[in-house]
Amino acid sequence: MESTDARPLRPDDAAGLTHLSAEAGWNQTALDWRLILDHGAGEGIFAADGQPLASACRVPLTRHSEWVCMVLVTPGARRRGYATRLMARQIAAIEAAGRVPGLDATELGRPVYEKLGFRPLFALSRYRATRPRWPVDSAPGIRPLTADDLPALAAYDAAATGGDRAFLLDHLLRRLPQAAWVASEDGQIRGYALGRDGLKASSIGPLVADTPAIAIALAAAAGLAIAGPTVIDVPDAAAGLVAMLEAAGFVRERGFTRMVKGTDAALDRTGALYALAGPEFG
Ligand SMILES: CC(C)(COP(=O)(O)OP(=O)(O)OC[C@H]1O[C@@H](n2cnc3c(N)ncnc32)[C@H](O)[C@@H]1OP(=O)(O)O)[C@@H](O)C(=O)NCCC(=O)NCCS
Repeated sequence: MESTDARPLRPDDAAGLTHLSAEAGWNQTALDWRLILDHGAGEGIFAADGQPLASACRVPLTRHSEWVCMVLVTPGARRRGYATRLMARQIAAIEAAGRVPGLDATELGRPVYEKLGFRPLFALSRYRATRPRWPVDSAPGIRPLTADDLPALAAYDAAATGGDRAFLLDHLLRRLPQAAWVASEDGQIRGYALGRDGLKASSIGPLVADTPAIAIALAAAAGLAIAGPTVIDVPDAAAGLVAMLEAAGFVRERGFTRMVKGTDAALDRTGALYALAGPEFG
């Protein structure tokens, strides 16, 4: 028997929840669940033995929006309305705080979100390579990111993407420091890349830059520091970066749709965003 009551998720649920995401073939580790539950919130439905059956969470993204993420239902409990119910509660909490809910939907998630009033903004794709062949040309103005850069980095990110996510930048710098790079010119930040280890692959992102050339150089610098399978989630509009990734051996694995319920101008365009922190972080 299971209880169909939802209860708030706690940081110490992270290890159990990792089974739910791993079962769906996702890349998150217990550290990612921890980060989401430490800085955001979520609810879950659990079986009598404590195994999680369903989850939905939210994390801060911009000044005006919160990101809905980790909407997962174990295959044996699908089509019972769990995702819709848990989502509705996340949406209500976000809207009650005067914010706009946004998300990056998988193909399975999109019909659930359309019914809940989300509209599509733009398309993104996940690219994967087992052993990428990155271009090794050194690019001027690119150097490793350090903790001293974090205040200026948060300000750059806020101006370039509307992001209000200093907690995430700080976490990723500590999580995979070798993948953290910054581009600067005359002391001004012109772009940055961060990365993260994962269950099945390491990922590059966020990747934010003033120009496509800077984004390409930063992606290569971050990528060269990562050994083994690598993924990166790129807006389809970033054609130059996609061409470089394909030349480096990346293959498109699946698509996502950025969706929003309401309006947040910061989410409407890809602009300086060349790679997501991941669909769960925007
Ligand atoms: C997407 C997912 C969370 C849906 O969970 P769920 O609890 O089965 O969804 P619900 O029962 O609330 O479905 C609500 C409605 O969405 C639509 N829907 C859900 N799954 C669908 C599917 N596979 N195909 C078409 N429509 C679907 C249906 O209209 C459904 O209503 P109905 O059952 O009355 O017809 C689940 O399939 C899942 O965990 N998938 C893997 C992870 C994933 O992709 N998560 C989404 C991340 S954005």
